Amino acid sequence: KELSLLMLPGDGIGPEIMIEARRVIDWLAENRSLKITVHEDMVGGAAYDAYGKPLSDEALALAKQVDAVLLGAVGGPKWDGVDYDKRPEAGLLTLRKELDLFANLRPAVCFEALVDASSLKPELVSGLDIMIVRELTGGVYFGEPRGIETLENGERRGINTQVYTTSEIHRIAHVAFDLAGKRDGRVTSSEKANVMESGLLWREEVIKVAESYPDITLDHMLADSCAMQLVRAPKQFDVIVTDNLFGDLLSDVAAMLTGSLGMLPSASLGAKGGGALYEPVHGSAPDIAGQGIANPIATILSLAMALRYTYERPEEAQLIEDAVQGVLAGGLRTADIMQPGKAKVSTSVMGDSILRQ
Ligand code: NAI
Ligand code: MG
Repeated sequence: KELSLLMLPGDGIGPEIMIEARRVIDWLAENRSLKITVHEDMVGGAAYDAYGKPLSDEALALAKQVDAVLLGAVGGPKWDGVDYDKRPEAGLLTLRKELDLFANLRPAVCFEALVDASSLKPELVSGLDIMIVRELTGGVYFGEPRGIETLENGERRGINTQVYTTSEIHRIAHVAFDLAGKRDGRVTSSEKANVMESGLLWREEVIKVAESYPDITLDHMLADSCAMQLVRAPKQFDVIVTDNLFGDLLSDVAAMLTGSLGMLPSASLGAKGGGALYEPVHGSAPDIAGQGIANPIATILSLAMALRYTYERPEEAQLIEDAVQGVLAGGLRTADIMQPGKAKVSTSVMGDSILRQ
């Protein structure tokens, strides 16, 4: 089957890191008979400058049509004064909404060569491989009623509502259990069932979904306790499934277990056969844009996730991940992950080295 990908490099370092991902795709096409049509368009500030909005209708239509989107990053000080709904970030939010990307996958993997870069003791993170599955389109960030109102006594009140329906819980739980089946077979579901009705429903419904996965072990952990355990003993986890708000926090905690932002990939997935967006966790890094020193690894690892989860080419995904591991073990570092005694290299030399490996 002919595969398709839409590349949206975006702003800041986006184009620089995307070039390196493109070279990996070209290498796979040549050496691993990967048949893939690559489209390219603009998103974020780049699209705003060209079309007056952060995602053109054509780019959105293409995003819906292709198997997967690979995005660099959006935003930067240049667009600070732009109207809220035309800001670079709005391009990304439109993509997430229009493709109904309800499942955000954030792996936290500790590359052996970078064990020392973690904020934790090496023995706590050596061999770490966690997957956080965050619900992305529901919960308190979107629930109604919401808003700021003025009360009769002159006080103001800000309101957000945490809402989850059974179908929203079921579909994210299925993503987590399916993933666990391809990993260590363990799911930890995290909420605050002790103080929140939506959390109680979450727990009850996850238990129901678990019945169709007899080979997966399910346990439950209150979200505050989960944050603590992530820092105390992170290797106890395989897959963590949680709501939008707790997932936002827990995935950022997990990210810092592994060292640098420049190393972290992510995926946002819709229903099976639906949309898929892969992107590094980091932003457009305007402070280093144009200098050729950005770390392309998060983007290259995002491509590896696309190969694993959308294109069903796990061997090629593994090849990429092993190459990254090998290059790091060989002592090459971009500036953001530089360590004493290692060789500092540019974006393109890091890309070259991964290809060679
Ligand atoms: P950032 O992630 O862009 O940068 C934070 C720090 O990490 C900076 O010092 C940067 O140089 C460094 N860094 C990030 N990625 C790197 C890489 N690949 N290689 C080497 N160093 C790297 O976050 P910041 O500075 O808060 O935001 C900058 C812009 O990016 C803002 O406009 C923000 O809105 C946007 N942003 C976009 C995101 C996206 O497109 N998904 C996510 C986060 C921020
Ligand atoms: Mg966050």
